[in-house]
Amino acid sequence: MRSVDIIRDKRDGAELSPEQIASLIRGYVDGSIPDYQMAAWAMAVFFRGMTARETAALTLEMARSGDMVDLSGVNGVKVDKHSTGGVGDTTTLVLAPLVAAAGVPVAKMSGRGLGHTGGTIDKLESIPGFQVERSQSEFAEQVNRIGAAVISQSGNITPADKMLYGLRDVTATVESVPLIASSIMSKKIAAGADAIVLDVKTGGGAFMKTLDDSVRLAEAMVAIGTEIGRETIAVISDMNQPLGNAVGNALEVREAIALLRGEPGVSRDLVEVCLALGAHMLVLGRRAATVEEGRRALQALLDNGEALRRFEQLVAAQGGDAEVVRSPDRLPAAAAVIPVASPSQGYVSGIRAEDVGVAAMLLGAGRATKEARIDLSVGIRLRKRIGDRVEAGEPLAELHAGAHASGDELAAISRKVADAYTLQAEPAAAPPLIRAVVTRAGVQRL
Ligand code: URA
Ligand code: CA
Repeated sequence: MRSVDIIRDKRDGAELSPEQIASLIRGYVDGSIPDYQMAAWAMAVFFRGMTARETAALTLEMARSGDMVDLSGVNGVKVDKHSTGGVGDTTTLVLAPLVAAAGVPVAKMSGRGLGHTGGTIDKLESIPGFQVERSQSEFAEQVNRIGAAVISQSGNITPADKMLYGLRDVTATVESVPLIASSIMSKKIAAGADAIVLDVKTGGGAFMKTLDDSVRLAEAMVAIGTEIGRETIAVISDMNQPLGNAVGNALEVREAIALLRGEPGVSRDLVEVCLALGAHMLVLGRRAATVEEGRRALQALLDNGEALRRFEQLVAAQGGDAEVVRSPDRLPAAAAVIPVASPSQGYVSGIRAEDVGVAAMLLGAGRATKEARIDLSVGIRLRKRIGDRVEAGEPLAELHAGAHASGDELAAISRKVADAYTLQAEPAAAPPLIRAVVTRAGVQRL
């Protein structure tokens, strides 16, 4: 099979066979197909798209390009969850103990943050002693014993995706629905999921800015899941502001603990998205007959403290200081807390999540490059959300800064956070949080 013929077929709009796709991906990974041919193919896909059959074949081929995690030693239906690029997205820290408490096993492999989005592994490492490396057998044993484990992704998951994503990044071919959908789904398949709940963000801070684009991406991922026999559902949620109030590693752990403890000061949006995603996880995991029943079960586990106890067990099982559950002050704290004053008065109508994420990164909470070191204590806490009234000079947010930040740096970051807020004179309503649910049966717009 000659690569040039495969590229030409795609360029001319033909459907590629699974064998053609396999030949391309295997050749790319083993080095026999050069970047320039892969780039030409990616551009052809960008313009021509891919059928559901092609997209599923690409997903499976990329999933098989590296290690495939074997979760057969874990009892029950393994339901994985994935969010597309959130800011202040602390859902995994809440959902792992919460759905485990409801009887759905959580065998989760997570990544570190890059750029303006955080990573669950960094967040967990802000808990003193927490170990993110576990062997496959320890991982399965822990899930069977306490219902949940969250570990760092192994080194050799989906190398084909890593190579192709890097190439797309520099050839203007990232924004292709079948390429994004197969990239995300290949990692979930390789991680051993039986079923998948996707949280597809939409709006200003998201990868997909419009609801229609987000629905198209969700439909493509659900179609892949259906095609390869892993039931997949997608919840489309709004990202016209950061999901939680905390953006930064230890700060997000604090917000997750506060949520599990039922304390005030927690973003209601974060609670709502956790309940929505968790309810679908319970349905796919056969622990609830309907989404409504799942939601009620989860609310009860929050109210009776079971989810918090499960979080404590998870932390203890991975070597962490479980006392943080009662004394969150044991988490690393920033050297300084600096209010970001509002330059004017009005009602908050939007908060550009990506800019808040970048501001947190500049404080040291995130990595500008893969090798950068991060400060787990720093970040941003929002004090105002969409719909809130603000007076001039009142704090919109607070910066949690390290000792090394200079006055000039802090002033620039503070301006960036203030600029991320849009205020208007008239009262503003928060946009609906859950915009649509996509299943194999179709799209339900809410
Ligand atoms: N996230 C991914 O994992 N892959 C993409 O292609 C885009 C976003
Ligand atoms: Ca995330």
